[in-house]
Amino acid sequence: MNILIGSSEVQPYSKTGGLADMVAALGKYLGIAGARVGVVTPLYRGLLEEYDDIRRTGRVVDVVLGERHEKGAIYECEPSANLAIYFVEHVHFFQRRGIYGEHSADYADNAERFLFLSKVLLNLPQHLPWRPDIVHVHDWPVAIFPALLRHEFGKGTYPSPPRTLCTIHNLAYQGLFPATQLPLTNLPLDYFTPTGLEYYGKMNFLKAGIAYADHVSTVSPSYAEEILTAEFGCGLEGILGERRDQLTGILNGVDYAEWNTTDNPHLESAYTADRISGKTREKKRLQRDLGLSVDAKTPLFGIISRLVEQKGIALLAEALQQSLRHPMQFVLLGSGNPDLKVMIQEVARRFPDQVRVKIGYDPGLAHRIEAACDFYLMPSRFEPCGLNQLYSLRYGTIPVVHAAGGLRDSVADESEGADEATGIKFTEFTSAAVLEAIYRALSIFKKPELLHAYQKRGMARDFSWERTAEAYLDFYRRILGGDGADSVWYFRWGLFLVGN
Ligand code: ADP
Ligand code: GLC
Repeated sequence: MNILIGSSEVQPYSKTGGLADMVAALGKYLGIAGARVGVVTPLYRGLLEEYDDIRRTGRVVDVVLGERHEKGAIYECEPSANLAIYFVEHVHFFQRRGIYGEHSADYADNAERFLFLSKVLLNLPQHLPWRPDIVHVHDWPVAIFPALLRHEFGKGTYPSPPRTLCTIHNLAYQGLFPATQLPLTNLPLDYFTPTGLEYYGKMNFLKAGIAYADHVSTVSPSYAEEILTAEFGCGLEGILGERRDQLTGILNGVDYAEWNTTDNPHLESAYTADRISGKTREKKRLQRDLGLSVDAKTPLFGIISRLVEQKGIALLAEALQQSLRHPMQFVLLGSGNPDLKVMIQEVARRFPDQVRVKIGYDPGLAHRIEAACDFYLMPSRFEPCGLNQLYSLRYGTIPVVHAAGGLRDSVADESEGADEATGIKFTEFTSAAVLEAIYRALSIFKKPELLHAYQKRGMARDFSWERTAEAYLDFYRRILGGDGADSVWYFRWGLFLVGN
């Protein structure tokens, strides 16, 4: 099977969050499973200097953006079996400091930049020695692709078009742009309707993906259900409801080649569930390096996160003001919203001996915090999947989570069976619930045998990408095999003809 993936982020080349980890692992493990995979992504600043295996191919893709033509030179590297990453070079669009913006402001030309990427995704197959059976697009930056393909199909350039899957990693980011930018899409007005690209008079890229892709998916089964409600649907619950029969949730996996405790360049001490002393050494090393008192008997809590409303940082700060009156330590690594930064720094100011806040982006420190902590806090209001709780489980760090989305699906609470419990889940999204969960953690910490039982069960859980890639392959086969997708496509196609 041939699969072409489109994404604005791919780890290790570009990353602002879990999207990058997910797309990189999806491509890698689909390739290992024997599929032929290409990932199309921008050539951002600094990549050619950092990765000498990225080479120019000589292929140049020409796209029409409104009235202009823009060219993207294609660079390529093959990091693992059957996987090619196609980097699109466009100096003006992509050689910038940020991916989506700088200094907390989005770039003003994001519609143009990511339409360009989506159009390269559309035209690239003509330059490749293989044809995709499936084009799998991720999140708003490339979600308009299914609409572009459908229109192109109408022009006869695609005798047998590939099937499309649009994966929603976070419904809170939709790619909403003024209707005045519609001409850049070169789509006829038929697409700018309430059942298509239009959203309250604006252009909504993610909505286009939901409306026009053959299938839509999210990154956990629970989130796939939650987004059908007004509470979590971010205004798109209506159109998602219409696509309910083509909506699936597949939980992300973990690339254990990277996220593990036995062969990890960021850790000095290797450890396993049966030889856990290395974890204590990592804890003491982190305490020492951060200037906290070095003591294995003080419970250490951590979080590594984008500082945004979604992640429940405000509730956490409130709960910590109470819980830090007890002996415990807390470490945060994150960057983002200045108000949330101030809020968490205020906690550090009040409890200088117990709290360390590191503002910035530091993948090595992220591994070390995962390894060193006893508990990992993830009080997200909503969480499409969440990766850090999965990493925590493998690192023997007990996740303390709000029961939402992927957190609900991947962490088992004592209330679901004492012999199965791997973490602590709370259901109310309040600071009192966060506080109570922290107190539960503190009481588990007081019982070393119980603590170790949680660690052992968590470390034994298998969220490997081999399994997730198989789930995607099955899903692609279903999409290709008919399963209603045909009728949807031709139904839409029929309407399109009638509409014209
Ligand atoms: P989201 O994609 O919503 O931010 P996820 O849990 O899916 O949440 O993924 C977050 C990813 O980004 C994880 O790999 C996490 O370790 C990483 N990450 C987030 N903030 C930082 C940071 N400040 N430094 C290093 N890694 C970070
Ligand atoms: C998004 C979500 C996160 C998910 C990640 C990867 O950033 O916020 O929950 O884990 O995408 O799918």
